[in-house]
Amino acid sequence: MFDAKKFVREKVEWLKETIGNEKAFAAVSGGVDSTVAAMLAHMAIGNNLTVVFLDDGLMRAGEPQQVHNRLRQLGLNARIYRLWDDFFAALKGLTDPEEKRKAFREVFYRSLGKIAEELGAKFMIQGTIAADVVETKAGVKTQHNVLEQINVHPLERYGLRILEPLKDIYKHEVRAVAKALGMKPEAMRRPFPGPGLSIRVIGEVTPERVELVRRATKVVEEETKNIPCFQAFAVLLRDRATGVTKDLKRKYGEIVVVRTVKSKDAMTAEPVALPWKVLRRIERRIREENPSVTHVLYDLTGKPPATIEFE
Ligand code: XMP
Repeated sequence: MFDAKKFVREKVEWLKETIGNEKAFAAVSGGVDSTVAAMLAHMAIGNNLTVVFLDDGLMRAGEPQQVHNRLRQLGLNARIYRLWDDFFAALKGLTDPEEKRKAFREVFYRSLGKIAEELGAKFMIQGTIAADVVETKAGVKTQHNVLEQINVHPLERYGLRILEPLKDIYKHEVRAVAKALGMKPEAMRRPFPGPGLSIRVIGEVTPERVELVRRATKVVEEETKNIPCFQAFAVLLRDRATGVTKDLKRKYGEIVVVRTVKSKDAMTAEPVALPWKVLRRIERRIREENPSVTHVLYDLTGKPPATIEFE
């Protein structure tokens, strides 16, 4: 049986010993993993910790501000770095999922390396968890926050000494730790991947395509707010499909996929049996709010054989 309180004691002690009197920063996305990692670091070194949030342009609607507020409620004051241009430039022209993931990872750590220098911080804390490591090592997909475990050396490559207090535990255990730290259940949002909406736009990531998937995601989240889902989101495909307008005009439009899954640890997942009414409302709203969309599909596949995210 996982003992969350003991875990907290041990990790805080480890962080305290490792960091000593040096300065450190925690890279947070607002998700439960990185927030818990930052809270442990804050308990260990107090004001020697800076909390850093990268606003990469790939987050959901209103997310940077929400994250900022939520962190403040937890006693963590985050600095937001707006880096939209850097991220979109790094992803420009790329269509292969693994190339996109690696490009995201590169600009992510290069930015953090610069921030470390600016802050005079010797250590960086991040919320990598066991599932991230397992999937990256197995070659399923390159998670944005795994380096050392696949022989990429953060110190040589980005000038970062990285500490990962959660790297041996899984999502449900992280949630137990969050609870032990007094985080409210509503603060434990559904998982959202580090590379954000870039891996939910199949093919090239452009600000316009991200904006479409951002609007569609908002619809899916709003309509499933009271339905238990591990994750619920929208994906924009690269293909197009023929539609027709009410006055009989051909319209070659975008295809959006809606995906909702149940899962415990993200290693396996099952689709959620959403009520038909909810599905139809999602379909209608996505189309109405995005006139370029002609088809809305629902993904029925579990993991395996699919993964949760499309890329
Ligand atoms: P997959 O798509 O592999 O996702 O079934 C498993 C879980 O991991 C999340 N995910 C990521 N999280 N960085 C993250 O922090 C990533 O690069 C990444 N890729 C996928 C995904 O949302 C799901 O919860």
